[in-house]
Amino acid sequence: MTSHTVLGIETSCDETAAAVLRLVDGRATILSEIVRSQVEAHAPYGGVVPEIAARAHADIADQIVAAAIEESGLSLAELDGIAATSGPGLIGGVMVGMMTGKALALASGKPFLPVNHLEGHALSPRLAADCAFPYLLLLVSGGHCQFIEVRGLGEYRRLGTTIDDAAGEAFDKLAKLLGLGFPGGPAVERTAAGGDPKRYKLPRPLMDRDGLDMSFAGLKTAAARIIEAGDLSEQDKSDLCASYQAAIADCLTQRADRALSVFEAEGEKRLVVAGGVAANQAIRASLDAAASRHGARLIAPPLRHCTDNAAMIALAGAEHLAAGKVDVDAMSFSARPRW
Ligand code: KG4
Ligand code: ZN
Repeated sequence: MTSHTVLGIETSCDETAAAVLRLVDGRATILSEIVRSQVEAHAPYGGVVPEIAARAHADIADQIVAAAIEESGLSLAELDGIAATSGPGLIGGVMVGMMTGKALALASGKPFLPVNHLEGHALSPRLAADCAFPYLLLLVSGGHCQFIEVRGLGEYRRLGTTIDDAAGEAFDKLAKLLGLGFPGGPAVERTAAGGDPKRYKLPRPLMDRDGLDMSFAGLKTAAARIIEAGDLSEQDKSDLCASYQAAIADCLTQRADRALSVFEAEGEKRLVVAGGVAANQAIRASLDAAASRHGARLIAPPLRHCTDNAAMIALAGAEHLAAGKVDVDAMSFSARPRW
């Protein structure tokens, strides 16, 4: 039996999070998990403000980490490693979490494990029981929008990505144009509830092109034109949100269809959808239908593991430890805005 217990720290965007996780023979058990969202601090600006984010992380990172360790019932000495997101992300926040992790590693003599935030997302479905390698991952959030083939630990291949905005960003921009508040996705989904998704003809960029790249900037521009053109009634707003949501769902689903047709797996094919946008019911339903067309299963991790969290960072760190992939120079690792 191999067992690795790791503290994870996540501060790369607007969530300050810490978690303690134990990985025993490939099975993860979360011993504690805390996420503190900064959404209220950023709401007045309609998006995440990097300087505000960094300061807010610095204010509470130590408390969140201390609380996660306490809740796990373990002492620092009982951990096998300290993992922290070390990029990519908003650099001020990344530095706060990474330095907190390094300080604890230094004080405890445990290895520091710099984790790539995207690897955390890629492994997040494995926080729950039955998601074996390989799988196809659609990561859709405010900052990321990409298809990744996950064959094993460290075996990730990006199949396609957005060439401009991420899908979550597209939701946030429409919400801002309509004055629906931040974060935009949930507000647009609520407003879309009574709307006609066929009312407005919105573009489906790149749909006729080969490959798995995506584009959402044109969608926002088209919506902006409609909004500028005239006074929208409540029903018009509803129809616009529904049409916009349908356009995003169509783009993601058509790429998912294509990705599933080239993705090879022995046995069950799995399509995992993660990131904040995975909360959207219309998008989930549409991806579910695509998966069915290919005899595949759609896996959507619980929402708290779809969005930024520290359990996925602890898991990535623990998997690295278990595989013996420990970087001896980790303490000199520099925070990376891009990785
Ligand atoms: O993963 P996440 O919490 O943070 C990062 O961006 O990394 O994702 C947040 C994004 C925001 O853009 C938000 O508008 C979007 O996910 N989102 C949604 C929904 N809930 C959150 N988009 C569409 N429908 C939703 N229900
Ligand atoms: Zn993320």
